[in-house]
Amino acid sequence: MKLNTRINGKEYCLEIKPNAMLIDVLRQAGFKGVKFGCGEGSCGACAVMINGRPRNSCITLAGAAEGVEILTVEGLGNPEKPHVLQQAFVDSGSTQCGYCNPGSLIAAKALLDSNPNPTAEDVKDALDGNLCRCTGYVKRIDAVLQAAEASKKTRKSTRGKK
Ligand code: FES
Ligand code: FES
Repeated sequence: MKLNTRINGKEYCLEIKPNAMLIDVLRQAGFKGVKFGCGEGSCGACAVMINGRPRNSCITLAGAAEGVEILTVEGLGNPEKPHVLQQAFVDSGSTQCGYCNPGSLIAAKALLDSNPNPTAEDVKDALDGNLCRCTGYVKRIDAVLQAAEASKKTRKSTRGKK
């Protein structure tokens, strides 16, 4: 069957099996930032945004992504132009092996999109489903708060120029 979907702002028409999981389809399409961890919806490594909400792609049927807008970590930024969250993760030292980072970044982006001024508790709640075996969680929470602060400054200076 065909899957028509939008990934990181670009239209795709992909040939999929009816029982294919979204994680496999995305990885086969080249989005290797979508990581396989537990395969059962509990580690968050495979998280992507679907129509603005974080979803674990290992427990999402690819067919359910017909006509939706998907954001993977590749759509956030790149080494030349990192997203403010990616920069904050690097600056705060909250990336070590990096395996959990794509999913955590997606969860953090979903949080900041809906709540640009989160508290540490809000960040903890939002990243609750994203496991990290390396860094502990304190630096990651700091990173999201730093990114929120940096985005606030950017918004202010953009407003000031209008
Ligand atoms: S691989 Fe999907 S939640 Fe763990
Ligand atoms: S940085 Fe290694 S699992 Fe999180």
